[in-house]
Amino acid sequence: MGKRIFSGIQPSGTMHLGNYMGALEQWLRIQHEYECIFAVVDLHALTSKYAETEKIPGNIKNMVLDWLGAGLDYEKNILYVQSRVPQHSELHLLLSMITPLSWLERVPAYKDKITQLGINGKDINTYGFLGYPELMTADILLYETDLVPVGEDQNPHLELAREIARRFNNFYGETFKEPQGLIGHASLLPGTDGRKMSKSYGNDIAMIMEPKEMAKKISSLVTDPQRIKKTDKGHPEVCTAFKYHKLFNAEAIPCIESECRKGAIGCVECKKRLAAKMAQTFMPMYERRQKFAEQPDLVEDILNEGTKKAASLAEKMMDKVYKAMHLR
Ligand code: TRP
Repeated sequence: MGKRIFSGIQPSGTMHLGNYMGALEQWLRIQHEYECIFAVVDLHALTSKYAETEKIPGNIKNMVLDWLGAGLDYEKNILYVQSRVPQHSELHLLLSMITPLSWLERVPAYKDKITQLGINGKDINTYGFLGYPELMTADILLYETDLVPVGEDQNPHLELAREIARRFNNFYGETFKEPQGLIGHASLLPGTDGRKMSKSYGNDIAMIMEPKEMAKKISSLVTDPQRIKKTDKGHPEVCTAFKYHKLFNAEAIPCIESECRKGAIGCVECKKRLAAKMAQTFMPMYERRQKFAEQPDLVEDILNEGTKKAASLAEKMMDKVYKAMHLR
C-alpha cells in the first residue's frame, strides 16, 4: 500500500491565492501519488474563534467548494469535516492525559500568539488554545499517517506529534506510527500591496472568481514605485507583479524581466499577460466550482462518503488505543 498523507485547513471561508500557493497547490500535485486524507479542521477553528461559530457552516461549504473546484479527487482521496468524526476529540482527550504541559507551552506558535494578547482581540488564554497542537497530533496519529505536508512554521507541531507518539508507545506498547514531514515547495505569494496576503489586510485575491474580476485584481498589484512613465526603466526585484509572474508564468520570466528593465513593456501590459496566464489555471477551477455549487446534494454526499471512510479508519485505531490503555 502507498504512503498515507494527512493534512487539514481551517475553515476560513473562500480561499485566497495565498492559501492556494501555501497548501492546495501542493495537495493537487501529491494527490495522485499518495493515499490522501484532507480535512476541513473546524475544531481547530474553535481554539481561537469560539465566539463566532455561526459563520462556520458557511465557511466549510465555501472551502469544500474551492477544494472541489480546484480539482481534488474526492473518489480517490478522503475529503471530510473533522468534527463529523468524533474520534478526533476522543483521541485528543486521551493524549492530553500523557502530554506534559511544558511540551505545549514551548511550541513557538503558541508562545508568539500568547504574548500578542490574543487573536483579533479574542482571549486565547484557554485550555483549548494551548491544546491546538495536541488536537493536530490526534488528527495525524488517528490515521497512521506516514507523511504530513508541512510548511516551515508547522514543523515544531510535527515534532511534538512524534514526541507524543513515542511517549504513548513507551507507556502502552507500540501503537502509533511516527509521522514524517513532507517538505513541499510551498511558495509565499504576497498580497496586492506587497505585504503577506491576508483577508484582514484587505490585500487578498480570491483563488476562484470571475476571470474578469481576477484580472481587475491583478491590475491593482503594486509595481516598482519609481516607474512613472511606461518608458522608465523598471526594477522587477521590487515589483509584486513580477513575483506573481515567477510563480504563475515562469517560462516568460526572461522575456518580461528584460523588457521591464529596458522600459519596453508597461506595467498595464505586463499585468494583462499575467492575468491571461493565470486564467489558464483558474478559469477551469471557476467553472468546475460553479457546477458543484449548483449541486449542494452532491457536495453533501461527497462529505458523507468521506466521513464514512475516515470514521471507519478512525474507529479501528481507537479500538487499538483503548485496548493498549487497558480500557477495553
Ligand atoms: N495547523 C494546520 C494549519 O494551521 C491545520 C491542521 C490541523 C493540520 N490539523 C492538521 C495540518 C494535521 C496538517 C496535519 O494550517
